[in-house]
Amino acid sequence: MTDSGGRPPVYYHDYLRLDRLLSSQAPESAKYGDEAHDELLFIIVHQAYELWFKQILHELDDVHEVFSRPFVPEREMGRVASRLERVVAIQRILIDHVDALETMTPLDFLDFRDLLVPASGFQSLQFRLIENLLGLPHEQRVLINEADYTTRFSSEHRDILERSHGRASLFELVDAWLQRTPFLHFGDFDFWDSYRDAVARMLDRDRSLIVSNPNLTEEGRGEQLARFDATADTFAALFDAERYEALLAGGIRRLSREAFLAALLINLYRDEPILQLPFRVLRALMDVDEGFTTWRYRHAIMVQRMIGSKIGTGGTSGHDYLRETARRHRVWNDLFDLSTFFIPRSELPELPESVAEAMRFHPTSEPR
Ligand code: HEM
Repeated sequence: MTDSGGRPPVYYHDYLRLDRLLSSQAPESAKYGDEAHDELLFIIVHQAYELWFKQILHELDDVHEVFSRPFVPEREMGRVASRLERVVAIQRILIDHVDALETMTPLDFLDFRDLLVPASGFQSLQFRLIENLLGLPHEQRVLINEADYTTRFSSEHRDILERSHGRASLFELVDAWLQRTPFLHFGDFDFWDSYRDAVARMLDRDRSLIVSNPNLTEEGRGEQLARFDATADTFAALFDAERYEALLAGGIRRLSREAFLAALLINLYRDEPILQLPFRVLRALMDVDEGFTTWRYRHAIMVQRMIGSKIGTGGTSGHDYLRETARRHRVWNDLFDLSTFFIPRSELPELPESVAEAMRFHPTSEPR
């Protein structure tokens, strides 16, 4: 082969280290003399997942680096959004990958399943690092037999996981970034005040519609007013700093109040050019959260089909445990909940000209 500009020629097989990659499948069943045909599929699917997990960590590390800066230049937001959107594209592949695994029937799986005990996907180090990097809090994790998840790992991996607990998560960094959002208070403009006024107008109107609706019976009116009061109370809890603190303490909210408000502002005024990229980033964070939740449900259903209500090789209750993690292991609930506080575009307080001007021409989000 000719050399390429003084560099030694690159050979496909070597570049991809295919010798190592393709000799890294060692079915347990083969060691005991009776190789189960489907164990190769089982191994390859898991390995493909681990490769994609590596890529996801690569993307999230880059996002983490940007948000770790004391202030985040606006132009980096496009990069952040693209990285997160790539993670979402990979997640779609991960979800589809389950189809390939499901071509293995439960009986085929039984040919080698017992040989795997006590190993389990539960011990995927990279999956746990992704969870920790995204910001799944320790106290939110579903315990297995009252034990911390790290107890299922080798001591070397436990050290790596402990270190990851000490690193600021993306959740914490994004919270801090949101808190620094300009425009929440800008000259005489206070987003909080103008939003509160708009909500009051909207609620007044909604209430009078119920009160004056001629089609309602008195009982129906009472029911609707009770529901209305509950909605009004949800807004009141947002406006009251002490009540918001109580929501944080009770684990109902995680984002700081200032960050929650900034996320609200970005969503409500996302048509302003300067807020479009931050909006794209918030949406991508939600997509990533939804992607993992969807994968978790898909995996849980596949597991039920594969092992019914048996316990897992890793010793959890199996399907029940997995459904519970799908429900609880979510990071960005607050962003999903934001829509509770949306008001129609037509009711949005108009931005004072000075703020609108600044949004149009302000090139970077300097810290306040
Ligand atoms: C036949 C196929 C599979 C079965 C029967 C299965 C079963 C299970 C079970 C029962 C658990 C709960 C822990 C335990 O008790 O073992 C679990 C957890 C897990 N599995 Fe699988 N799994 C399969 C395929 C996969 C694949 C292909 C992946 C990809 C990496 C994977 C990743 C995981 C992860 C990350 C967890 C931890 C989930 C959490 O704690 O929220 N599994 N699996």
